[in-house]
Amino acid sequence: MNILFVCLGNICRSPMAECVMKAVIDEKNIKGVTVDSVGLIGYHTGEEPDSRMRAAARDKGYIMRHRARKISDDDFRTADLIIGMDGDNITRLRHICPKTEYLSKIHSVAEYFHGITGYTTVPDPYYGTERDFYKVIELLENACEGIMNEIDLLD
Ligand code: 4NP
Repeated sequence: MNILFVCLGNICRSPMAECVMKAVIDEKNIKGVTVDSVGLIGYHTGEEPDSRMRAAARDKGYIMRHRARKISDDDFRTADLIIGMDGDNITRLRHICPKTEYLSKIHSVAEYFHGITGYTTVPDPYYGTERDFYKVIELLENACEGIMNEIDLLD
């Protein structure tokens, strides 16, 4: 099972999702699941996650190690689950998907929310405040637990 998280820049939401998901997998000692993240734009390629995202992550006990990269055709082939953060991500993913057979791999992170009201996306925090970065973590912790439960069911 290869899980690929996707956001626009790959410096805030998707590397945070990758980090949270890896922590859940480690904690539960799950084997056979790989997790990665990519962006839809290559503008930040090679960069560390945004310093505001890293600061909120550190405060919550997460160390982010990802370096940004742009999604490639090969990512669509190798991933089993391609999880976008908002409607724009999903639209773009569907548009650039290199084969129709890969379209069913594309999902919205909100599909995995449980008990959350008022959010149908993980909103882009890039032009937001510190509080928005903490919200990203809170939503992703909820979603990753949902993803984990779904993977368990698939076993
Ligand atoms: P992300 O946030 O998609 O969560 O990584 C963004 C990062 C960079 C930009 C937009 C969103 N940008 O326009 O450079």
